[in-house]
Amino acid sequence: YACYSSHATRLSPPCDGEDEYANMDWDNLGFGMTPTDYMYMVKCSKDGSFETGQLTSYGNLELSPSAGVLNYGQGLYEGTKAYRKEDGRLLLFRPDQNAIRMKMGADRMCMPCPSIDQFVDAVKQIAVANKRWVPPPGKGTLYIRPLLIGSGPILGLAPAPEYTFLVYASPVGNYFKEGLAPLNLYIEEEFHRASRGGAGGVKSITNYAPVLKAIARAKSRGFSDVLYLDSVNKKYIEEVSSCNIFLVKGNVISTPAANGTILQGVTRRSIIEIARDNGYQVEERAIQVDELKVADEVFCTGTAVGVAPVGNITYQGTRVEYKMRNGSVAEKLYAILEGIKTGVIEDKKGWITEI
Ligand code: COI
Repeated sequence: YACYSSHATRLSPPCDGEDEYANMDWDNLGFGMTPTDYMYMVKCSKDGSFETGQLTSYGNLELSPSAGVLNYGQGLYEGTKAYRKEDGRLLLFRPDQNAIRMKMGADRMCMPCPSIDQFVDAVKQIAVANKRWVPPPGKGTLYIRPLLIGSGPILGLAPAPEYTFLVYASPVGNYFKEGLAPLNLYIEEEFHRASRGGAGGVKSITNYAPVLKAIARAKSRGFSDVLYLDSVNKKYIEEVSSCNIFLVKGNVISTPAANGTILQGVTRRSIIEIARDNGYQVEERAIQVDELKVADEVFCTGTAVGVAPVGNITYQGTRVEYKMRNGSVAEKLYAILEGIKTGVIEDKKGWITEI
């Protein structure tokens, strides 16, 4: 993956060592879109399979107004990150897990899907081709966004006749404007993120726009994000708009079971494994909203979010505060996860792909 020249924005894209970093304020990265040099794209028909894709310069897509994704929301996305090691090499964290999740989602949304190898290869190509946009160690990451969309025209409600798999990337820092400071969450009772039998368990694009109103309302009241309840009983916690949630009580860590309405986060699964390896008892189960009152600690996990401590949660006008302490469970697990991701802690699990 050393050098690319096809359709490049830059006449001669960087090779190893050359033009190491893009011209960017690396000290002030947030979670905003910075266009990078290349995207990866490949199309296939409804009954076809994806061939090897091409890197092209990052730019706008041409889509029919009647594309399935624009009219009926037939689309999935993924999120994964590339890290720059001190020695300049790039590390990817479990991109195969994103590929597997996209496959599950494609099945749910009636779409053909790239193979695991093809997905991982595309992610590697995007990381390498956009290497000068991967932030220096400790300053951020290259967020990689694979998309699978029904790009062909369709008027009646049916699977689109053509699909596009594309991958683009942007350098990012912290997801929340709070940075690494604890989040304050609002428990939403009117709106729900997902319902039984819906698509909440896969990374369908249709899970995201419907929560914007709840987020906007919560943000206008000074909250960081919204925690949703189950839509049947309004009694069990589900997840936050952009991340999964965990509770800590003594040596026991609990998180809502991924039963179809909870997104199966790659960070969620990794934190569960790290916690078990480190002697915690981890329970995946239905968690009543009242349990938040007695938890020692609450934290959120996600690719974009990382592991974010929660400082307080407001439910029906009452705010529960969590004492922030050094050596919290969230901090401990986050340090291990980040250590593995950045190559500081030896990866004994085969989670890291070095490129
Ligand atoms: C991620 O964490 O990668 C996500 O997809 C969440 C998104 C709202 C940024």
